[in-house]
Amino acid sequence: MKKDYLTTNQGAPVTDDQNSLSVGERGPVLIKDHILLEKIAHFDRERIPERVVHAKGAGAHGYFKPYKNMYRYTKANFLQDPSKETPIFVRFSIVVGSKGVADTVRDVRGFSIKFYTNEGNYDLVGNHIPVFFIRDAIKFPDLIHALKPDPVSNIPGDSSANSRFWDYISLTPEATNMLTYLFSDIGTIKSYRFIEGFSVNTYKWINAKGKAIYVKYHWIPLGGIKSINSAESKRLAGIDPDIASRDLFDTLAKGIPVEYELFVQMIDIKDEYKFDFDPLDDTKVWPEDILPLMPIGKIVLNRNPKNFFAEVEQSAFCPATIVPGIDFSNDKILQGRVFSYTDTQRYRLGTNYLEIPINRPKVPVNNNQQDGFMQIMPNHSSTNYYPNSLGCGLPKQSPENGIPEKTYVEGYEVRKAISKKNDYAQAGERYCSLSTIEQDHLVSNIVESLSAAIKPIQERMLVHFMKANKEFGKRIEKGLKI
Ligand code: HEM
Repeated sequence: MKKDYLTTNQGAPVTDDQNSLSVGERGPVLIKDHILLEKIAHFDRERIPERVVHAKGAGAHGYFKPYKNMYRYTKANFLQDPSKETPIFVRFSIVVGSKGVADTVRDVRGFSIKFYTNEGNYDLVGNHIPVFFIRDAIKFPDLIHALKPDPVSNIPGDSSANSRFWDYISLTPEATNMLTYLFSDIGTIKSYRFIEGFSVNTYKWINAKGKAIYVKYHWIPLGGIKSINSAESKRLAGIDPDIASRDLFDTLAKGIPVEYELFVQMIDIKDEYKFDFDPLDDTKVWPEDILPLMPIGKIVLNRNPKNFFAEVEQSAFCPATIVPGIDFSNDKILQGRVFSYTDTQRYRLGTNYLEIPINRPKVPVNNNQQDGFMQIMPNHSSTNYYPNSLGCGLPKQSPENGIPEKTYVEGYEVRKAISKKNDYAQAGERYCSLSTIEQDHLVSNIVESLSAAIKPIQERMLVHFMKANKEFGKRIEKGLKI
């Protein structure tokens, strides 16, 4: 049959897709109308759970090309050959709001990159702000509960919701540095083409000799960094709520590539106690004047997805998706993230979510895991166990890819925060580093939001801002008219 004729999902021809099968033209409708039943039943199941955070997003395909060989620091194959392009898929996102949220609201933007390397997928699941609110993953559900709508009224952004957010934050001193970014103008944007990306977490790179080094990633848009102010963000949220998603789609549709440059900062593991902050504490930046950015390569986006649901909605990124030459540091947020993403994706997309084409590695997947809902890439061997002799011992374990890093760990089991907290110094430095107009906006954006919180919460917040920088705190105090 010609492809332009309608069929059921079983491939049978459909001659009338517009009229239900009924007794006479006025009904009743017959339950044996399998064409009606199939069409409605499939429609009934069109939605899947939205991501628990980062629900609204936009995606693009492209490639990554390294500038030079990184063998001194990592054996990761995709970082070795400057003539080799690795295909990538990127998803930009907004953290707090549900799927219909406006693109311009004040929030962190997610910036995830999936590298389809020839050693398997590598996911860099970053944000557009270099630091985070908390330093231990066990606090993440509380943070997100405080940021999401009130569970009683389901209302986001009203005065009670503001109180809930500020209530939590005022009892979370380590968030002070994050606030100096989130409430500056970089918290409001109208285009994904002009935002930075940061791994926020610290990873390890490991070379072929087994030597490890700490790294943080930072990527910078080649078109420059651009944000908008609070008034413009509100205006656009009203008249053009999908502006950033459309801007990306239209740019790529016109054939204009979108480019970013990838950098890393490095810390020798033996130097990890040398700083006035803990390098594994993600509420801190690694100052770029003492830990300079090393250029690594170029990220180029050049192609729109062909179908939003199949590619963007069903994409699954995870900080645990690593390749040989890259490993996790003991950063306590990263260690929690290593569990959280695959766990939620098995719930959101199902057991076999890695068989969905957007998530599938470009290299063969070869193991004895099998079955489960929606399995479409079955194992065709009878020896679905290891070790075996009947299948000539295949698939066998991979040969060691270089000497692995030898990590020695010893200590008492404790539930204890790190002692080197230094919660305020970088927040104060960040305030001082801003231009006068940027400082004015930071102060007025905080005042605008914090004014809706009750007085005891405002007073607790002032203590944090004062500790970061006296002038900063005094200006907020004046704005709040306390
Ligand atoms: C303890 C801390 C954190 C936990 C437990 C956590 C958990 C999650 C979960 C459950 C999702 C939804 C994933 C999905 O449904 O596919 C998600 C998405 C995301 N998270 Fe986190 N997160 C944490 C911290 C962070 C940090 C520090 C960053 C930035 C470096 C980050 C960046 C992202 C991004 C970009 C996404 C969206 C991925 C996409 O585009 O599909 N998260 N996170």
